[in-house]
Amino acid sequence: MIQVAKGLEGVVVADTALSHIDGENGRLIYCGYDIADLAHGATYEEIAHLLWLGHLPNRAELSAFSAKLAGYRELPPTVIDTIRMLPATADPMDVLRSAVSALGATRHFSGAVSVDHAMELTAAMPTIVAAFDRIRRGLKPVEPRSDLNHAGNYLYMLSGEAPSDQRSRALDTYLVLTADHGLNASTFTARVIASTLSDMGSAIVGAIGALKGPLHGGAPALVLNMLRSIGKPENAEPWLTAALDRGERIMGFGHRVYKAEDPRSKVLRQVAERTSEIDFFRLAIRVEDVALRLLHERKPDRRLYTNVEFYSAAVMHGVGLPDDLFTPTFSISRTVGWTAHVIEQLKDNRLIRPAAEYVGPTGLTFVPLDRR
Ligand SMILES: CC(C)(COP(=O)(O)OP(=O)(O)OC[C@H]1O[C@@H](n2cnc3c(N)ncnc32)[C@H](O)[C@@H]1OP(=O)(O)O)[C@@H](O)C(=O)NCCC(=O)NCCS
Repeated sequence: MIQVAKGLEGVVVADTALSHIDGENGRLIYCGYDIADLAHGATYEEIAHLLWLGHLPNRAELSAFSAKLAGYRELPPTVIDTIRMLPATADPMDVLRSAVSALGATRHFSGAVSVDHAMELTAAMPTIVAAFDRIRRGLKPVEPRSDLNHAGNYLYMLSGEAPSDQRSRALDTYLVLTADHGLNASTFTARVIASTLSDMGSAIVGAIGALKGPLHGGAPALVLNMLRSIGKPENAEPWLTAALDRGERIMGFGHRVYKAEDPRSKVLRQVAERTSEIDFFRLAIRVEDVALRLLHERKPDRRLYTNVEFYSAAVMHGVGLPDDLFTPTFSISRTVGWTAHVIEQLKDNRLIRPAAEYVGPTGLTFVPLDRR
């Protein structure tokens, strides 16, 4: 038996050709392409094509692929009924997990996994999140529109109004940047489930559960809470100093893998500048400057930089998403990565089944129930 680091830190457990994180140099690659180039030049649909089918589509391929993806947006009535049955006060991540489970029970994603299963799950995610948001506000769900792209249609189904190009493009860039990220906890969960030869729906239900936690996808709303609590740029220095004096973590800074600036936050800062109200953006910039300086002064050997969550929060706030839809929106983007990993896992599958070191007692004498 080989003992490995707690939390599997630094342990390689799979080969992947999907994404590569170069934490030392702050680079992220999808299938050979630098994320900065993709974020500026490609849409989420192009990224889905790249991750599922291994190459960027040409114009004809993209048009057929986008039309097929859009064709899967409408939910079966069983899924809408499931959403309606859940309390309006439920955590949207719990609703998303339950609704995807209901979709799996309705559609039977059994048999060999396929890109079609990936498309169906990916297309359904925004419809589920938007339907729940409408239902909890006492409104009728809005039918999806096939002439809008994934990001634009999601915003449309939330508000009932077609979004501006700028908002749609901002969210699309966020989706591109967060579509895949190596073997993070939720992706690993999806691969473990896939490795048992379960189905793709089950893998995505498990991944949603893993993403929900604050150590993984649950952080962006906390960034917004912090910015609201700081309130104005001149409060940044005393607020952050006091938080660090109390031994608290500053939300949106530091990363397990990146020891340089997270390349996604570089792009998201530019997007946030275009999407946010000017006062909000000034506040975010000031908080970032002060936090980086204070963290550097206090932990000079730690190499703490802005992570993806800091400006994700600003972008999602800027496009008008409610705070509790930040993590569901992260799930929407990551579904492409999760499903691509499921497909990849099954191309060369071996059941993922590690061992545990038994540290409990041994040799105890069994006492029957009536004598205990
Ligand atoms: C993301 C995170 C969990 C990664 O942590 P990690 O690589 O395991 O690093 P550690 O938790 O071991 O922290 C290393 C040191 O840096 C400090 N540190 C790390 N992130 C910090 C932050 N955001 N604020 C203040 N100090 C921080 C820790 O206190 C620790 O200091 P110490 O060794 O003197 O005790 C961590 O940076 C964090 O909690 N960030 C804030 C939450 C957040 O933004 N989450 C979203 C992540 S994408």
